Amino acid sequence: MPSPSAEPSEAPLDGEARYYETAVQFHQLCRFGNFVHPEPPYAGLPPDDQPQAAPGAAPWVEAQALLGQRSLADALYQRRTRRDFGALPLDVADLRAICSAAYGTRPDPDGERRTVPSVSQLYPLRFTVMAPAVRGLDPALYAFHARRGALEPLEAALPRTLQSWFYTRHVDYGRASAVVLLTGRVDRVGAMYGERGYRYLLLEAGHAAQNLCLAAAALYVPHVPVGGIEEEVVEKALGLDPSRELVLYAVALGQR
Ligand SMILES: Cc1cc2nc3c(=O)[nH]c(=O)nc-3n(C[C@H](O)[C@H](O)[C@H](O)COP(=O)(O)O)c2cc1C
Repeated sequence: MPSPSAEPSEAPLDGEARYYETAVQFHQLCRFGNFVHPEPPYAGLPPDDQPQAAPGAAPWVEAQALLGQRSLADALYQRRTRRDFGALPLDVADLRAICSAAYGTRPDPDGERRTVPSVSQLYPLRFTVMAPAVRGLDPALYAFHARRGALEPLEAALPRTLQSWFYTRHVDYGRASAVVLLTGRVDRVGAMYGERGYRYLLLEAGHAAQNLCLAAAALYVPHVPVGGIEEEVVEKALGLDPSRELVLYAVALGQR
């Protein structure tokens, strides 16, 4: 690997800088010219294995109708993080609408387009939904299939307490309706963008999570974005290959 143009200082860092030294080095390392940049035809690019929509299906119609009840301006300016939840479970249609708003497909003459931009249209994110208390869904783990707008049950089991998957202690997980977990296929972005792909994965997760929060706000669903995840616990429970798919972010959706 070529060495970074900005050589890291040999001198030990003082004060706060020592806490984020590696983060700065990583950011510099993945500046253009500082890492091995894959070249076309990207032989290592794993196929897009996400299920396709059934012909004629239009999952965005239901989501648009539900979300259209509140204006974008209202959702933006009323959005806030809430860690204390109510006792009225979310409806499955609301959960589908929130997930579709976050990462769903929409009609476009050019082919597939989604509610978020995606580097080289790779769409490397996956949504896993922990759903202990959603009206119309058995308590279980689900995959959200963006093109189908559908929640499909996974074989892995819900943990006995949602809290066990999170480092953050002050969220009212016992009254969560669902938690949407975002994981990212670093093997897809990395095959085209090398080390810089990691930045793009995080940036795309931010786009999707903001959509999740705004859609939740539009439906008056209390919610909290969660970066404090017990990643190793989640990787193991979901059977992820941590060298290919990374646990990135979560949004807890409370009962109302
Ligand atoms: C990247 C990121 C990670 C976060 N992680 C957590 C978390 O682990 N636990 C939590 O309670 N809140 C978390 N939050 C929520 C912030 O604490 C919250 O957004 C902040 O206090 C501002 O409040 P507001 O969202 O109501 O404007 C996170 C927010 C962001 C953007």
